Order: sequence, then structure tokens, then C-alpha cells
Amino acid sequence: MGESVRPHVIETVDLTMIYKSGKVEACALRGVNLVVKEGEFVAVMGPSGCGKSTLLHLLGGLMRPTRGRIFIDGTDIGRLGDAGLTEVRRKKIGYVFQRFNLFPTLTAKGNIELAKKIHGNGHLNARGAEEILEMLGLKDKVAFRPPELSGGEQQRVAIARAVINQPRIILADEPTGSLDSRNARMVLRMMRELNEKLNQTIVMITHDHEAAAMASRIIEMRDGQILHRAQHFAYEPEFEGLF
Ligand SMILES: Nc1ncnc2c1ncn2[C@@H]1O[C@H](COP(=O)(O)OP(=O)(O)OP(=O)(O)O)[C@@H](O)[C@H]1O
Ligand SMILES: [Mg+2]
Repeated sequence: MGESVRPHVIETVDLTMIYKSGKVEACALRGVNLVVKEGEFVAVMGPSGCGKSTLLHLLGGLMRPTRGRIFIDGTDIGRLGDAGLTEVRRKKIGYVFQRFNLFPTLTAKGNIELAKKIHGNGHLNARGAEEILEMLGLKDKVAFRPPELSGGEQQRVAIARAVINQPRIILADEPTGSLDSRNARMVLRMMRELNEKLNQTIVMITHDHEAAAMASRIIEMRDGQILHRAQHFAYEPEFEGLF
């Protein structure tokens, strides 16, 4: 087909998403072109409704775009069938969702071990569930179930679950949104450590400037598009002063 080589971990071309509910259409992404290189830690910022979660869900192959292409490690995932897409998700991607999506009947440890069973690729360095929970300050909560955990604790379990298999890519939707500043810092430090030591590529949505400062690059979105530098200089100073 004369395809050009796509050497990047993540690349999107003209990525467009229009949600349809009945006769109403919502254009959530308007032709996003994005390249993320191996080992980058990218923070995605922008106002509510600008398309951040939509972008992340598409990058993770959780839904299919209306138009445009997504390359993961050079593979055009739009060309894969459902089974192929599931395999890419399992092998390469760890998710932290805006809502936690933990199994309510399993303990904290059980949730993580399940991820290991389902997605594990026999990685030699895969850490134990208890070790990761300890790193995240949840040593005493290993046997607790999600309804018995606070929102912040559940979020940390979700993060432990995403990183347990050391996926090549971590996609995180406001991972620190429900955490106090101490726990937020703990989680961010851990993500940065994974990024630096394991060269994991991270795309993290955040509203928090302190969290974004941990990233190696910040992408600003508005209204379904990525802002270019010149545009976002025009926005920021005035907005900052208002709050
Ligand atoms: N399942 C859906 N059906 C219809 N419209 C949707 C759906 N999901 C998102 N949208 C619309 O797409 C737009 C982008 O939503 P998205 O969730 O990507 O925003 P966001 O930037 O993540 O916002 P937030 O910061 O509030 O999480 C919004 O206008 C939203 O109403
Ligand atoms: Mg969102």
C-alpha cells in the first residue's frame, strides 16, 4: 500500500469524533494530529468538554473514531478487527479512567491480581500486587473492597492496576483528580518514576498545573482541537488572573 513508516509510539492523523444521540450531533474532536514519542510524558489540559477524554478513549482503542487514523507502535489500529484491537489494548496499554472501574466484589489486591491474570504477558519484572499497593500507601488496605475504600484510595488501586504489567503506554484520565495534595504527589512521583526508569510513554489528562508540571510536554486543547503555541499565549495570562 506504500504506507510510510510510523516510528512513533502514538500518532494520530486528522482524528475526528462526532457523537450522535438521536438527531443531535456533538463534534468532540475536530481533526487532531498528534505525535507522541517513546518515553514522553505528555499532560493534556483544557476546559471541561473540550474533548480530552474522547481523545484518550480513542488512543486506547476503546471506541472507534468517526474519521482519521491512529497508529500505535506503527500499527494502524483502525484496520484491526475487534480481536486485534483487544490484543493491542491488553499488551500495550494501561488505563486509569476518570471513574475508577474497579470490581466492587474483589479486594484491592484481587483487582490488581485480576489485571495481572488477564493482561499479564509474563513480564519478568512485573511487581507483586502487594508491593505496588505498599508503594502507593495502601499497605493496610490490601484486603479491602472498593466500597470500603475512599475515592482517593480507589483511585490509587486503579493506578496500581494500570501499571502492574508495566505496559508500554499508560493513558490516565485525571489520575489525581480525587486525591489530596499529598497523595497526588505520591501518584505523580510514581508515574514519573515509571516514565523515567521503564521508559513508559504516558498521556495524562489533568486540570492541575502542578500535576502538568511533572510532564515533559503539555498539550492544550480547546473545542476539539490542540492549540498551537501562539494561540495559547493569547489565552493564558488573562485567564490565570481571574481565578
Ligand atoms: N457518549 C457521548 N455521547 C454524546 N456526546 C458525548 C459523549 N461523550 C462525550 N460527549 C460530548 O463530547 C464533548 C467532549 O467530551 P469529553 O468527555 O471528551 O470532554 P473532556 O474534555 O474530557 O471534559 P471533562 O474535563 O469534563 O472530563 C462534550 O461536549 C460531551 O458532551
Ligand atoms: Mg473527561
